Amino acid sequence: MKKKVFVLSLILFIAAFSFTACMKKDVAMKQAQPFGSEADIAYSQALWEVLTQAKLVGPDRIRALPYEGMEPHGVILEQLSTMVEVNGLAGIVYVKANYMGEGMTRSKVVNDPESFLGAVTVMFKRETGYDPENQDWFWVKYKADGSLHANPKGALLAGRVAKGMDKGCIACHQDAEGGDFLFNNTASHLD
Ligand code: HEC
Repeated sequence: MKKKVFVLSLILFIAAFSFTACMKKDVAMKQAQPFGSEADIAYSQALWEVLTQAKLVGPDRIRALPYEGMEPHGVILEQLSTMVEVNGLAGIVYVKANYMGEGMTRSKVVNDPESFLGAVTVMFKRETGYDPENQDWFWVKYKADGSLHANPKGALLAGRVAKGMDKGCIACHQDAEGGDFLFNNTASHLD
């Protein structure tokens, strides 16, 4: 009888131990993940608020002349940039409205932008040390209402997207000329 109790307690102990170890690993993984964490989501929401007030996103946003863009962004794009302040930190922000959809033309985008707005992709320069290898850019892919797009694995696209992976914002933008992760704003192609 005593032996049984001992074996049972041992099993319970092992089960409890593995469960805790598993949970700890999960928490550690969440902390280490470069994007899509709770902190990234909160930051993306603070940024969206600021961008809405600055009229860079949302139905009252300043409109720019739409241009034909490249993949993977929309087929038709509008881009704005300025300085904004997020949680007390001033930094430059690049906001790109990505329009897509069947039958889309530039004039349709001008006259009825909301029907074609598929995503708003943003780069915001954060504090020094946020992501030194990638020039401290914070990357976000918003839906038109300010909520976040996710990658095929379900990770939300806000933060250091997708650091360490061979596809995604950072992987592609690190090939931009001039080493500043910017394609358009180096503007060498306009000369
Ligand atoms: C496969 C390559 C590629 C990926 C992946 C990519 N981009 Fe871009 N991005 C570009 C190109 C090319 C341009 C400039 C051309 C254009 O406007 O279409 C650009 C332009 C931008 C700009 C305007 C600033 C600039 O670089 O001139 C922003 C902001 C931006 N991308 C954000 C993002 C975000 C956020 C992600 C990830 C969710 C992302 N991009 C993923 C290729 C990429």
